[in-house]
Amino acid sequence: MAKDAPLYLRPRVEPPLAALLGEAGFLHSLVDALGSPLNVLLPEVVAENADRFLSVYRRHRLSGRVYFAHKANRSSALVRRLAACDPEAVGVDVASLGELRHALGCGFTGDRVMATGPKDPEFLWLAARVGATVNVDSPGELRKLAELVRGHGLSRTRVLARLSGFESDAGYGGTGTRVLSRGSRFGTPVAEAEVLWSALEEHRDAVELVGLAYHLDTTGLEEKARALERCVLLMDECRARGLAPGAVDIGGGFGVGYVAEAAEWERWTTALSEAVLGLRPPLTWRGHGYGLRAEAGTVRGTAALYPAHRTVAGPGYLDELLSRPAPALGRSPATLLLEHLNDLYIEPGRALVDQCGVSLARVLEVRRTDDAPDRYLVRLGMNAGDVSLEEHGVLVDPVLLPRDGARDAPNSEGPVGVHLVGNLCLEADLITRRLVHLPRLPCPGDVMAFVNTAGYAMDFHAHRAQRQPVARTVAVTREAGTWRWCPDEDYWPLTHPEEGPF
Ligand SMILES: Cc1ncc(COP(=O)(O)O)c(C=O)c1O
Repeated sequence: MAKDAPLYLRPRVEPPLAALLGEAGFLHSLVDALGSPLNVLLPEVVAENADRFLSVYRRHRLSGRVYFAHKANRSSALVRRLAACDPEAVGVDVASLGELRHALGCGFTGDRVMATGPKDPEFLWLAARVGATVNVDSPGELRKLAELVRGHGLSRTRVLARLSGFESDAGYGGTGTRVLSRGSRFGTPVAEAEVLWSALEEHRDAVELVGLAYHLDTTGLEEKARALERCVLLMDECRARGLAPGAVDIGGGFGVGYVAEAAEWERWTTALSEAVLGLRPPLTWRGHGYGLRAEAGTVRGTAALYPAHRTVAGPGYLDELLSRPAPALGRSPATLLLEHLNDLYIEPGRALVDQCGVSLARVLEVRRTDDAPDRYLVRLGMNAGDVSLEEHGVLVDPVLLPRDGARDAPNSEGPVGVHLVGNLCLEADLITRRLVHLPRLPCPGDVMAFVNTAGYAMDFHAHRAQRQPVARTVAVTREAGTWRWCPDEDYWPLTHPEEGPF
């Protein structure tokens, strides 16, 4: 392929999201009516994704629950749609008092809720009050919870003990100190588990240990398989002390494939190294290297990028994790869980909202850059906080939705490189620092669709700087071949009146 061929990173788009993107007129009318930026969600897809995870459970004959990590998206529609799923199989992981209140208001009963993350007394009290399971981070947090339970005459609260700092093989006998998993602010280091077990024994009148948990912020299967196996073995230790844990919660991090073609991803990452070395023009705004730098003619550093093309992600990643032999005992985690009669809990965020949404922005201005005549600045009616793919190191092209008839506009001569800039009066407000190649130059009035933004990119970093509008969010459903929409907060998982009985 010619070196100057456009460096596309085209998104992975599956049905029904692909069908929605085919409805440019419908999407334009939504932006016309509701403004730019605009978030569009497909609540049906989140339920289908939950079922895909559950089918992996069925394949391995495992029981347990899929807890949606709510932090990935603020939407009511997504949480309500999940609340309507099988209560035994689908729950929600909440990481704040606000998320807990929201989940309860969306129809989750307390017994389907897992409370994780940093917890203030109000969050702990409400979680215990409604019978949620509390994922306890430290012996100190356990003590605070136990005091609240006793002090307020609450029922004995179900807890999971979250662990971190899993050792390598050398550590299993208690002698080694080499830590395999990366450090975390959350969870009790395995090396300090003894203190945790003692606290669980001391407070057993107020809390009941139902399982062990971890969340590793890595894509490494090996690291996760080792932690899972370690938890199964530690549960045996707990049982020997009279505690009765029955579940392993392996957290989230199953991942999403954003870029459709492996070859495009490889070409772009290779080209980035070449650009950093000065062997080709910069691929980024002011030569930003995404963590790479040139030193004495070689590339140094690590690219701080999400692996945007993934051969295995989401439910497929869970399947692989459960199937591969675990490092110490040589049996698969699925077999270990079955043999020990343990339930499996997972907390997918990003992967559960895969293909669930798009963020739309109006093209406001198109002009040539000062320094390179073949590059353009495209200003959008959104800012970097409205679509924070870049913040998460996710590089993927937007889809251009031309305004009616714009395909024949004078700008349609062919592929171009553009810098996507936001609506803030701030040099740093770039939607991405990458030069984005598009099949043709956009025109003011076109819409750009950023695909697959429901996981962390839509609302996690949105703000009100300069009083720019925060995106509204709508839920769309397809009924009898017609797309319908409503404000996110007005979506309830009920059949539309014309479609059948309530
Ligand atoms: C405890 C916990 N569970 C689940 C998740 C969700 O992770 P992901 O969105 O990568 O699946 C997170 C993310 O930070 C987390 O901290």
